[in-house]
Amino acid sequence: MPLLQLRDVTVQFTKTAGCLRRTMPTPPVVDQLSLQLHQGEMYGLVGESGCGKSTTARAIMGLNQLAKGQILFQGDDLSKMHRSSRKLRMKEIQMIFQDPYSSLNPRKNVWNIIAEPLRNFERLTRAEELKKVQELVERVGLNAESIYQYPHQFSGGQRQRIGIARALALRPQLLIADEPVSALDVSVQAQVLNFMKEIQEEFDLTMLFISHDLGIVRHMCDRIGIMYKGRLVEEGTIQDIYERPSHLYTKRLLAAMPEMNPEKRLEKMKQRFRINEEYELANEQFFDSSGRVVEMRKITDTHWAALK
Ligand SMILES: Nc1ncnc2c1ncn2[C@@H]1O[C@H](COP(=O)(O)OP(=O)(O)O)[C@@H](O)[C@H]1O
Ligand SMILES: [Mg+2]
Repeated sequence: MPLLQLRDVTVQFTKTAGCLRRTMPTPPVVDQLSLQLHQGEMYGLVGESGCGKSTTARAIMGLNQLAKGQILFQGDDLSKMHRSSRKLRMKEIQMIFQDPYSSLNPRKNVWNIIAEPLRNFERLTRAEELKKVQELVERVGLNAESIYQYPHQFSGGQRQRIGIARALALRPQLLIADEPVSALDVSVQAQVLNFMKEIQEEFDLTMLFISHDLGIVRHMCDRIGIMYKGRLVEEGTIQDIYERPSHLYTKRLLAAMPEMNPEKRLEKMKQRFRINEEYELANEQFFDSSGRVVEMRKITDTHWAALK
């Protein structure tokens, strides 16, 4: 059984419009999205800004209501669970946010920040709590004294490590990382990513790793879903996606990745033009008459793409 299953998940917001100020639904931001995460897997959800990645994450966390569909964790439908058992189950799902500046309360010291989830779920004595917080802080590579300091006293990379320590405090099974390094300097991104990979293996975490950067996802994930306008256009293993991309949108994203080798830059630029041209011409192969991404179909056991 997959650890997490999204079935036809649809999230829609409303807006007030017209002279009668009526509430109208907007087009779905997440549109009948289905995906599965297996135990211990690193799944990369990739797509351009605005395609619905964070909305999907928030839906899993129970922060966005579903207009349609189901989210199953260990086989149980989260939205149908009683509040108290749902709360207990949510202990198993933790999230790391994009911006470690705004996701940590500036008025709390690190001890209180990391202890917050523990206080919500576990009855620990002060000494037990201190021991646990110190272990967590050291595990994420900060020194034990840092628990008395405040978020502004740390660098961006260190702050993200504090966020990770807080997310790990309850030993979750599933970690959702929403663009965890996008707000960090390029020089510390690799450090934090390597560290997250280590943590994933050590804690046998299942991870939903959200990113707009195909380069990062390649380094981090086992499987990838490419999202466009609230739907998946392609899903597969690293090899499927990077070596045998099927959907033109995936090819376009790959062609837009920066080329590090100067000798290959011209070739890459030509490829980019060719794919863009192809994309304009072949549009109707990938979208229905209303512009909606068509259903994915199976290419191999691991590889799916939204092709007619
Ligand atoms: N609470 C909300 N109300 C209305 N629109 C929203 C809300 N949250 C997100 N959106 C819209 O949904 C779309 C997808 O947003 P988001 O999931 O944040 O994209 P991503 O994380 O992929 O960049 C955007 O167009 C955004 O404006
Ligand atoms: Mg986002």
